[in-house]
Amino acid sequence: MSEGFDQAEGLRRMKKANPVRVLAVASGKGGVGKTNVSVNLAVSLAHLGKRVMMLDADLGLANLDVMLGLHPKYNISHVLSGKRTLEEIILTGPAGIRIVPAASGIQSMAELGPAQHAGLIRAFSELGQSMDALIIDTAAGISDSVVSFSKAAQEVLVVVCDEPTSLTDAYALIKLLSREHGLFRFRIVANMVSSLQEGRELYNKLTRVTDKFLDVMLDFVGVVPYDEYLRKSVRKQRAVVEAFPRSKASMAFKEMARRVESWPIPSGAGGHVEFFVERLIQAGQSGEKGML
Ligand SMILES: Nc1ncnc2c1ncn2[C@@H]1O[C@H](COP(=O)(O)OP(=O)(O)OP(=O)(O)O)[C@@H](O)[C@H]1O
Ligand SMILES: [Mg+2]
Repeated sequence: MSEGFDQAEGLRRMKKANPVRVLAVASGKGGVGKTNVSVNLAVSLAHLGKRVMMLDADLGLANLDVMLGLHPKYNISHVLSGKRTLEEIILTGPAGIRIVPAASGIQSMAELGPAQHAGLIRAFSELGQSMDALIIDTAAGISDSVVSFSKAAQEVLVVVCDEPTSLTDAYALIKLLSREHGLFRFRIVANMVSSLQEGRELYNKLTRVTDKFLDVMLDFVGVVPYDEYLRKSVRKQRAVVEAFPRSKASMAFKEMARRVESWPIPSGAGGHVEFFVERLIQAGQSGEKGML
């Protein structure tokens, strides 16, 4: 009898739980525009009426806050140590997006006890009720943390630009995530390009190699043009879509947000934010250091 009750309760919770779109933004190579893509996509989704949260997963140089001129006093390590609640560490950014600052000290999820895991899942699932999208700005390179966040997300956006090392590093990332971790679908964003055609060519170059050597599917999301206004906005510590909404880069981000909005969110368990945290913890336990 109690089992029947538990199942009914579980189903009720499932129905109540809000499906959340979870996107990880990665690139392999550093400096190709991950943070700018993350922030401007987040703000553009917020402009479309979505409730957006960002996770700054760049543990080395937590540059999301720097990019937005924010000054976090606490970060996720304070939540893990029980000193602060998740709500208490969250910062509010442009267009009301909410930002969870990363830990500057490295903490392995594998080192956390079950009580901390449960606490983290509970905290995120409560937040999930007031969130439509979670965007994760990952670090450069192909570290364990990049792998963990990419595996836990529903979609991985890979940012590339027109530099040979950008394509080779993106390839290395996709190879690692597909061969070692079973990911097979990646969304490609071409940044700092001069035309749509140049972006498509970059995508085609990458696809030619992945088609030959890997079992993956690459989708072309679109391009962000090289834009001086974006550089200006970085110097002002503002999102370009807010500082210069009519610039070419801003138009591209708006278009990208509309496209992202049209992607289906997995229905059922995978679409809820607590499952993202559970996948993150699993990644940590399977030998990678899943770090926050
Ligand atoms: N579309 C663009 N047009 C012009 N400049 C750009 C564009 N995108 C990025 N940049 C420039 O590249 C710099 C690096 O961008 P960003 O910090 O977003 O890259 P990143 O991939 O997050 O870097 P890191 O690997 O260090 O985290 C920006 O400060 C900006 O000057
Ligand atoms: Mg960055």
